[in-house]
Amino acid sequence: MGKLNIPEYSVLVDQLRVGVFVRIDGFSWFNHPFLFRSFKIKNNDQIQTLKELGVARVICIPEKSDVLPTKAEITAEKQPQSVPPKKDPADADSASNRLWQIKKEKFERLKKKRQSIARCEKAYASSLNQASRVMKSIAGGNVNDIPQIVSFISEMSELFLEDKDSTLHLMTLSATEERVYYHSLNVAVLSMMLGKETGFDREQMEALGIGALFHDIGKSRIEKKILLKKSPLTKPEMTLLRMHPKLGVEILAKAKESLPRAVFEIIYQHHEFCDGKGYPAGLGASQINHLAKAITIVDTYDNYCNRADPKDSLTPYQALSIMFSKQKHLFDASLLATFVRCLGVFPPGSIVALNNGAIGMVVSVNPQDALHPSVLVYDTEIPKEEAVIIDLKEEPELKVEKSVRPAHLPEEIYEYLNPRTRITYYVESGKDTKVKS
Ligand SMILES: [Fe+2]
Ligand SMILES: [Fe+2]
Repeated sequence: MGKLNIPEYSVLVDQLRVGVFVRIDGFSWFNHPFLFRSFKIKNNDQIQTLKELGVARVICIPEKSDVLPTKAEITAEKQPQSVPPKKDPADADSASNRLWQIKKEKFERLKKKRQSIARCEKAYASSLNQASRVMKSIAGGNVNDIPQIVSFISEMSELFLEDKDSTLHLMTLSATEERVYYHSLNVAVLSMMLGKETGFDREQMEALGIGALFHDIGKSRIEKKILLKKSPLTKPEMTLLRMHPKLGVEILAKAKESLPRAVFEIIYQHHEFCDGKGYPAGLGASQINHLAKAITIVDTYDNYCNRADPKDSLTPYQALSIMFSKQKHLFDASLLATFVRCLGVFPPGSIVALNNGAIGMVVSVNPQDALHPSVLVYDTEIPKEEAVIIDLKEEPELKVEKSVRPAHLPEEIYEYLNPRTRITYYVESGKDTKVKS
């Protein structure tokens, strides 16, 4: 049977059968053993569990059902309130007890996940603080701080290289941070993720990370009013802005001895494109340093997601779609394919609809398994602070159906999910988050 175009309606639990998509109203998340209050009945145990819970009626959603409920018995219709007594939850054989057990385990994992995100947010805030402090000092001409950046990046590449389960998390950014700093840290995090998946060695990873942090340092020599201008730049302003790769190399020239040569190539070439139409030199694909090609991809992506005016920003999903469908010729094909593969079709920060009808926001992804991100789910029954985060790896029946534009969200869902106007990422070691299941 195809999907049924009939409005939702209330049915007795006795009418249910496998294949009917239902919603249970009036139960808080903590008072029912199902993962969601909307789901497709997949076995008789679930129907039994509803009875054991004392649920008399549920809402049937024909649009998502494979079959309709059976016809109601007239006698049952007359007595919809006659609810079977609740079973003792201690009864080990009860269907609901088994589901409760599973839900309890999921709840434990959710707690760990929240702790891991909190740890990651803390590490991110301190990294951003450290990186921006040192970048400011170096932009001011003090190259003595370079070793601090080198050791910061070497610790970060350790995190990527030594840990195959590291996860990319969406972070919350305080509104006060200047764009150039979180942009640089984003480019460092994402390019090192790309470098790891490409198979770069430690030396390449370190050059990549340092180059990423410094790629726009030349902008510190450009007037703020040009950098922050929200309307299109004039030709002379554009000429000035396009000097930033060259200025960046000049700023770091004093530290030539303490930095790998590739760092300078990254800074100078990060706006060169494989079609030869980039700047400052209009280099062809074969002339551009491979590490610089990685930075160009990540830089373009982050610039799409974090425009000077947040209203102009694209969602991560839109940014990847444009790069992959319309701008492929600008980038190294294999690096771009790897980048898309490890961010996933729905990168952290994307608002998505799941196949059970739930709406959520992707909050983290394991680059090794990008088809199964973690999604924070909107649910009126659960307070925002306790929102459930579903790891799609653990829910084989759930999958992301499509991306949703934040502007199209109803107000209450927008408030709940709080889609970021600034998309920032950080990486969390998988070693800390592993939970025995
Ligand atoms: Fe740049
Ligand atoms: Fe940039």
